[in-house]
Amino acid sequence: MIDIHCHILPGLDDGADDEDEALRMASIAVSDGIKYAIATPHVLTPSLSPEEIRIKVESLNTLFNHHGLDFEVFPGAEVGFYSDLSNFDHYHLNGGPYLLLEFPHGQLPPTAAERISLLLRDGRKLILAHPERNESVIMEPKRLLDLVGPNVFVQISAGSLTGEFGPDVQRCAMYLLKQKMVSFIATDAHSSHHRPPVLSKAVKVAAKVIGKDTAKQLVTTNPMQIIDGLRV
Ligand SMILES: [Fe+2]
Repeated sequence: MIDIHCHILPGLDDGADDEDEALRMASIAVSDGIKYAIATPHVLTPSLSPEEIRIKVESLNTLFNHHGLDFEVFPGAEVGFYSDLSNFDHYHLNGGPYLLLEFPHGQLPPTAAERISLLLRDGRKLILAHPERNESVIMEPKRLLDLVGPNVFVQISAGSLTGEFGPDVQRCAMYLLKQKMVSFIATDAHSSHHRPPVLSKAVKVAAKVIGKDTAKQLVTTNPMQIIDGLRV
């Protein structure tokens, strides 16, 4: 399996604190059957440079290799809706056309559609990070329908499906799955104990709703297209 949303790079955000914690997260991921992950630290300002992300990714991969872990991370970022970047392209997932975009957790911004259409210029594609956890979407999931399109995809969190964010978020995640609006399930892991990098439990839940093969696609073939920079 492949995880396209993971806060495993140490010391950059509220994810892994240090390399030991990143190693523990990688071990959990490997035990769960995850082979690749895209490292997606929170980015709101240009203070975290794409170069710094790349250097951390390289050094983590060397560390995993040194410890005999069959696990590899790729560079990426989780870009905040209100981020003031001038070079969004540099924060795309593994240098491909996809940008992982995070809405505020409260209400959907009134400018969401406008912002999305601006970001779609120049051939960029968007992945909306866990919209099932957004209050506006929970209250009225159909609002998301107005935002998704041929180049706007939805990633839901594994924990949303397994009930870790409560019944309202779980219900919303199930609804989005049933509506065939979900292209990816990802861990959004932050540590080895708080939201660990585990996908398998969520895949089992999803399989009951959309079938085993489609559920698997959300953590295998679809994410692989992102790593390869290809069309989902
Ligand atoms: Fe995240």
